[in-house]
Amino acid sequence: MTDLSHLTTNFSRELTACDSLDSLEKIRIHYLGKQGLITAQMKLLGTLADTERKSFGAAVNDVKQYISETIEYQKNILETAAINARLASETIDITAPIRSIQCGTIHPISQATEEITAIFGAMGFTVAEGPDIEDDFHNFTALNTPETHPARQMHDTFYLPEGSDGRKMVLRTQTSSVQIRTMESNKPPYRIIAPGRTYRCDSDMTHTPMFHQVEGLLVDKHITMAHLKGCITDFIHRFFENDNIPVRFRPSFFPFTEPSAEVDIGCSWENGELKIGAGKSWLEVLGCGMVHPAVLTNVGVDPECYQGFAFGLGLERLAMLKYGIADLRTFFDSDSRWLQHYGFPALDIPSLIGGLTR
Ligand code: DAH
Repeated sequence: MTDLSHLTTNFSRELTACDSLDSLEKIRIHYLGKQGLITAQMKLLGTLADTERKSFGAAVNDVKQYISETIEYQKNILETAAINARLASETIDITAPIRSIQCGTIHPISQATEEITAIFGAMGFTVAEGPDIEDDFHNFTALNTPETHPARQMHDTFYLPEGSDGRKMVLRTQTSSVQIRTMESNKPPYRIIAPGRTYRCDSDMTHTPMFHQVEGLLVDKHITMAHLKGCITDFIHRFFENDNIPVRFRPSFFPFTEPSAEVDIGCSWENGELKIGAGKSWLEVLGCGMVHPAVLTNVGVDPECYQGFAFGLGLERLAMLKYGIADLRTFFDSDSRWLQHYGFPALDIPSLIGGLTR
């Protein structure tokens, strides 16, 4: 039997010195744990005579209750203090100025590609692709442009070292190569567009060594020039969002089409400013024609059964006309101010907000 008042005094002293939940837990174990001082006193009870057991038992119970309640109380105080300390160290200064957020934009080239793809997509065209590094056969020969053909000179081709298999390699000068690749690896009918990068060794106000084209190819039975004219006219009206734009098909020459045409749209110049849609002037926007029988033969398609049309347009040119961009070279400067001005919002936030509040 221990002097309980002595034990209580010791407990109070230890508690006063205790400043953490860890040391409080140690105190609890010291007194109330399995090997604890109070527990030891409880175990003693069985050895005592009846009268002694009653009075000492009651006293031990009182001390035990006092110690456990005091520890519980102290635990609350320490836990609250810990939370308050954490809150104080983690405060957020909501008056601090926000960092400015630079939100990117969709490049006009990407935007125009999306718009053109959507228009032809609605007409049933799918998107086809081919490599930027192309062999001479797909870029020229199969397109009815043999090595001696004068049309080759017009392309200012970037020639690359020969491939290990002896193939002559070039950076493709036109997306027309994708026509050949599509027809080689699929059976007719075909209805594809091929947007992509093209390369020519040329650089000035209206030429950059890399630019973008969209190729189109439709081959099926009973396809005529009327289909070509309808398709292209419809495309131009939708792209410029104006059904009244005059469209003119002017005879021209491409080795891979016969007949060939260049397509002009009506426009006017007022005070040096270009107005699309009406007036006395014409502006060339793309090349097209009926697929040359030799091209179909080159890819194993019988020209007696199948006919079709093809077209190729310069993406930058169309984007400049639609979005009012004056200098071609600015497309590739990566000037963020230009992109902020001519770019398109990546997220259509106004319509999102409208959608949420409506
Ligand atoms: N490949 C031609 C060029 O780069 C554009 C073109 C014209 C493509 C007529 C065609 C076409 O498919 O039929 O100048």
